[in-house]
Amino acid sequence: MNELKHIAIIMDGNGRWAKQQGFLKRIVGHEEGAKRVRELTIHASNRGLKYLTLYAFSTENWKRPEAEISFLMKLMDRYLKNELSLFLDNNVRFETIGDLSKLPDSLQERIAYTKEKTAHFDGLTQVLAVNYGAKDEIIRAVNKAIALGESVNEDSFDALLDTKAIDPVDILIRTGGDKRLSNYLLWQAAYSELFFTDTLWPDFTTEKFDDIIKEFESIERRFGGVK
Ligand code: FPP
Repeated sequence: MNELKHIAIIMDGNGRWAKQQGFLKRIVGHEEGAKRVRELTIHASNRGLKYLTLYAFSTENWKRPEAEISFLMKLMDRYLKNELSLFLDNNVRFETIGDLSKLPDSLQERIAYTKEKTAHFDGLTQVLAVNYGAKDEIIRAVNKAIALGESVNEDSFDALLDTKAIDPVDILIRTGGDKRLSNYLLWQAAYSELFFTDTLWPDFTTEKFDDIIKEFESIERRFGGVK
């Protein structure tokens, strides 16, 4: 059976879900989406997964209306405040990838506090991608190498990325019907199995998550070699 350590998700479709349900505001979809994040984190932890990486805010999401950006920042802050007990009760470590320096100070502090409180846990690591873009991450890594005055190989470059201590992505899921990677984990997903589902993120259940894992288990992964 395929070894499974890391699942990464592009949580798309919140705005469409809100519209579909007759809500006038897209943010209702983000609010509902945050509930799926909670459920899936508990579920992934119970399944013994090592890493669950969730695309919460991309470097491109700053193009959204100011009110939506501000809502998402506050939602992440509230989520981390409310879910600290979930992390503590479930042996879940909290991590982030992305350039945090552009986030509101209060959110940066909340993130730092949550990381500190959960740093010793060795169960699931929930990784939130916040102000994350793979191109931005790669450029920052290249500049780190230049500053060190060193040339790089695959291993040493790996160590300069935001995901330095995190295993490669085994499964990459995108909800919401589109089939693109949207600047997500371009290096880390080099050999990921890709799953695209029409299900909108707020409708994405733990059963649908398990169905994808079942399908993953039946795939022959060759990593460019032969079996
Ligand atoms: C994409 O849906 C979703 C986002 C840009 C934000 C993801 C945020 C959440 C799931 C909730 C908050 C997360 C945490 C960790 C608290 P979209 O709005 O682009 O949907 P659309 O394609 O239907 O417009």
